[in-house]
Amino acid sequence: MSMNTFEERRARLAKSLREAGGGLAVIRTAPERPRNADSDHPYRHDSSFHYLTGFDEPGAWLVLHASGESALGCHASDPEMEIWHGHRLGVDAAPATLGVDAAFDVDTLDAAILARLDAAPAVWFPFGAGAEVARRVDGWLAALRSRARSGVEAPMVQRDLSVLVNEMRLFKDAGEIATMRRAAQISADAHVRAMRYAAARFRATPNGTVREYEIEAELLHEFRRRGAQSPAYPAIVAAGANACVLHYAASDAELRAGDLCLIDAGCELDGYASDITRTFPADGRFTPAQRELYEIVLAAQQASIDATRPGARQRDAHHAAVRVLTQGMLDAGLLDRDAVGNVDDAIRSSAYRQFYMHGTGHWLGRDVHDVGEYLSLGEAAAPQIDGMGREVVMKPSRVLEPGMVVTLEPGLYVRPAVGVPERFWHIGIRIEDDAVVTEAGCELISRGVPVAANEIEALMRRTS
Ligand code: GLY
Ligand code: MN
Ligand code: MN
Repeated sequence: MSMNTFEERRARLAKSLREAGGGLAVIRTAPERPRNADSDHPYRHDSSFHYLTGFDEPGAWLVLHASGESALGCHASDPEMEIWHGHRLGVDAAPATLGVDAAFDVDTLDAAILARLDAAPAVWFPFGAGAEVARRVDGWLAALRSRARSGVEAPMVQRDLSVLVNEMRLFKDAGEIATMRRAAQISADAHVRAMRYAAARFRATPNGTVREYEIEAELLHEFRRRGAQSPAYPAIVAAGANACVLHYAASDAELRAGDLCLIDAGCELDGYASDITRTFPADGRFTPAQRELYEIVLAAQQASIDATRPGARQRDAHHAAVRVLTQGMLDAGLLDRDAVGNVDDAIRSSAYRQFYMHGTGHWLGRDVHDVGEYLSLGEAAAPQIDGMGREVVMKPSRVLEPGMVVTLEPGLYVRPAVGVPERFWHIGIRIEDDAVVTEAGCELISRGVPVAANEIEALMRRTS
């Protein structure tokens, strides 16, 4: 029988364990989190656990030996509990369904681990996975050490499993990219729906207002009716000046004609995130000042897209965007040439950070800020410009390869300040797309929603 995706991933992980000296890997799924006496927060599996098992019931642990032998600890079938919480796969069905070699009742986890950990050279688990995991590992090691006189050999080393799994997760296979493409299309359609909703409201009542939460409701409606399980992160819907608050959540502020609306929202579909930002005029027409800054951000994003290709470094996109943004700030008069000098001076002094203070992208995958090393650890450290625009000695940024997925998300955020032209005050703009690195360059999978200013205006004019 051919291996399924999850068996194949476990086989690759076991090979990495062997190459790293062997041992036993242990990873658990996310715990359930009680909200109050009789209800939990919505349950979401652990991304790495699910990546290796495809199993989304709570309470489960995967145990993988470097030999390739795998075992799953899960809740046993229990007709009484299943009346309340639904069907459980159960111990008997797990091996055939999930392709693991064995399964055990998770209530017997300690015994199952101890039997496998004896004489293993190392125990691998994701560091930082919480106090419970570290406590269990300590307990297993103590139990084995206490039997040393009976010839039991406790592992001498604890190692971070995340290093191996994160590296695997950084490269998306065709199936993962297909899911991410679908997630991005749903999110793009949700943005279209939100823009059209705002336009319709202002057509009906030109002097009216629309609350941020009404726009958010349109996004969530589209996500859910298309089968996405949830938002990948809390949606940002920011009316006017709220766009200058980077982590603003959709709240109850009023959007008025003449304002910009910034939406940063993406759904999670089948365990994969999408992450899209669009900024549009509430009533469908950019003002000249809004359009002037919008075109700068759009050009910066194009520069970051052009810099995203195999062989380039992940941070090149940021440097490309910063250069275009900084030149734009000088041309628009946001930055005063007499005070900050030319574009190189303004980059070197970080003067641009008054209006652009975040990075231009991050890995995207199962998590919206996905796992994966950002630095090229095999290379020598040298002076680099870090994410805050400072020169620091560190490893160079990671070289991009096909199958990596990044976001490209430049912006401009203008808070009122002395010397800043008043017509730009309170304008906040970000444009964000999701890019798959291909053999030839990169492919944007989130362009199902328009991004050019004219196309956004045309979409918002459409009444059918
Ligand atoms: N939506 C989170 C981010 O853009 O990084
Ligand atoms: Mn993002
Ligand atoms: Mn975003």
